[in-house]
Amino acid sequence: MKLFRRPSSGPLWQDEFSVFAADERYVNRRQFAKFLTLTSLGMFVGNLWILVRSWLRREPAYPRATVARVPDLPVGGVKLFNYPGPEDPCILVRTADATFAAYSQKCTHLGCAVYYEASEKRLECPCHQGYFSVTDGAVLQGPPQRPLPRVVLQRNGDDLIAIRMEGA
Ligand code: FES
Repeated sequence: MKLFRRPSSGPLWQDEFSVFAADERYVNRRQFAKFLTLTSLGMFVGNLWILVRSWLRREPAYPRATVARVPDLPVGGVKLFNYPGPEDPCILVRTADATFAAYSQKCTHLGCAVYYEASEKRLECPCHQGYFSVTDGAVLQGPPQRPLPRVVLQRNGDDLIAIRMEGA
């Protein structure tokens, strides 16, 4: 199929707006160049917008919050708390004498609350039997596709302090 044709010797408008139906399917070089230029310009502006947004995007600032005191939490013990906001339920587990793990309590499938099953040493979601590793929050079984967001803890004496979320 012929896509290009030589411009007519008539006025320019006859090339741009043909009065013959058969000529309407032809694209002349000028139209094609215009199309390429506008498409390239559109893509350039789109990429520029993505670049500017990524520059302006900042990591959310997380508050420091004391979530538990070590003497109050026996090995295998669990404490529920909210972090980073009052509507964000989290679960803290003391997995060993000096090891603590804290995660968002919202299952990454449909948001049911997970709980710690001490006999299996894993976090379980009762809604669809989604299981998560208490070590790193990874999915062990069930429909969830993503690990539980982890609360990063810092120990300061007997205080456990939440400093940020990972994977949220
Ligand atoms: S909501 Fe947790 S497995 Fe479905």
